[in-house]
Amino acid sequence: MRQLQKRALISLVTVLILGAVIWSFTAPHPVDQSAQLLATPEAIARGEYLVTAGGCVSCHLAVNDDGSTDTSVLSGGHALTSEFGTFYVPNITPDKETGLGNWDAQDFLIALKQGRSPDGSFYYPAFPYRSYAGLSDEDALDIAAYLMSLEPIEKTVPEHETAWWLNRFALVGWNLLFDFFGGELPAVEVDGLEKDEQDLLARGAYLARNLGHCGECHTPRNGLGIPKFAEEFSGATLGDEVIEAINSEALAEWTRDSFDLFLILGMKPDAEFVGGDMNDVIEHNTSRLSDEDRLALAAFFTR
Ligand code: HEC
Ligand code: HEC
Repeated sequence: MRQLQKRALISLVTVLILGAVIWSFTAPHPVDQSAQLLATPEAIARGEYLVTAGGCVSCHLAVNDDGSTDTSVLSGGHALTSEFGTFYVPNITPDKETGLGNWDAQDFLIALKQGRSPDGSFYYPAFPYRSYAGLSDEDALDIAAYLMSLEPIEKTVPEHETAWWLNRFALVGWNLLFDFFGGELPAVEVDGLEKDEQDLLARGAYLARNLGHCGECHTPRNGLGIPKFAEEFSGATLGDEVIEAINSEALAEWTRDSFDLFLILGMKPDAEFVGGDMNDVIEHNTSRLSDEDRLALAAFFTR
C-alpha cells in the first residue's frame, strides 16, 4: 500500500513538473500584430450579431447579488457546475479593473481563438474556446469591437472552485491531449453540389461547429472531457441530462423547413417543444439569427 502511494505521489509530482516545463515553452501562437481594435458602427453592429450567434449571453449574462439575472448586460457571475468543479463566468464588459478595459486586439485574438489569457495562462474549457478556435480573425475582432463598445460595469466574480489538482497548469496537458485525441471533424462537402449549396453548407458548419458551438453539448466526450470528433453530434450526457443526437441519422425525419422552425420556436417535427438548456440556446441565439444563417444551419444539419 505504502509503495503504491509513493508511486502515485511520484507520478503526480512528475506530471506537475512536466506541466510546468511544457507551460514555459508553450507561448501562445503568433497572431496578426497589425490587428487593431475597431470602433466603427459597422464593426460594432457585426460584433453584436456575432455575440448573439456565438451564444455568449447564455453564460456571460449578469447575475446580480440577489440572484436575479439580466441578459442585456455581460458582467458575468453565472456559476457553471460540472464534475470538474464550479466555474464563475467572468465580466466581459470593458471595465478597467474588473473587466476587459485594458485589452488590445491581440489579447482578444489569443483569448477567443487559443483560450489563453493576456498573462499567457490557459482558460478552463468551461469557456468553449476550442469551438471558437475556428473563428475568422475578422469575426473575433468584430466581437471585440462590440464588447469594447458596451458600458463598463464594475463587477468582480468569485474565484472558480475546482479539485486541487485541476489548476491552470493541468490545462497545458489537456490542450496537448486535445490536439492528439480530438481527431478530424467529418468532411462537409457533398459530391456534385452547386457552389451556392456548398457555400451554404460551409456557412452552416461554421455556425454549428464554431460560433454556435453546438458540439460542446451534443458531441460525446472521452473521460478527459475531450470531444470524439469522429462521432460528432451523436449525443452526450451532461450530469444526469441526456442530450439527444443531432447527426444526420437522428435527424432523418427532419426537413430544412422543420429544422428552421425549430431554430425559431424550439418546436420539433412531432410538435413537442424542446426543454432544458436548449431553451436558452433557442431564445438567446438561434431565434435571433438572420434568415440566411438559420437556413445555413438547417441545410448543414439535414444534409
Ligand atoms: C458555456 C459558457 C460560455 C460561453 C458560451 C462563452 N463563455 Fe466566455 N467564458 C466562460 C468561462 C467559464 C470563462 C472563464 C474561463 C477561465 O477562467 O478559465 C470565460 C472567459 C471568457 C473571456 C476571458 C475573460 C477574462 O477575464 O480573462 C472572454 C474574453 C470571453 N469569455 C468571451 C466570450 C465570448 C465573446 C463568447 C461568445 C462568442 C463567450 N465568451 C462564450 C464561459 C463561456
Ligand atoms: C448548452 C448545451 C447545448 C447547446 C450549446 C446546444 N444544445 Fe441542442 N440540446 C441541448 C439539450 C439539453 C437538448 C435536449 C433538451 C430536452 O430535454 O428537450 C437539446 C436538444 C436539441 C435538439 C432536439 C433533438 C431531438 O431530437 O429532440 C436539436 C435539434 C438541437 N438541440 C440542436 C442544437 C443546435 C443546432 C445547436 C447549436 C446552434 C445546439 N443544439 C446547441 C443542449 C444544447
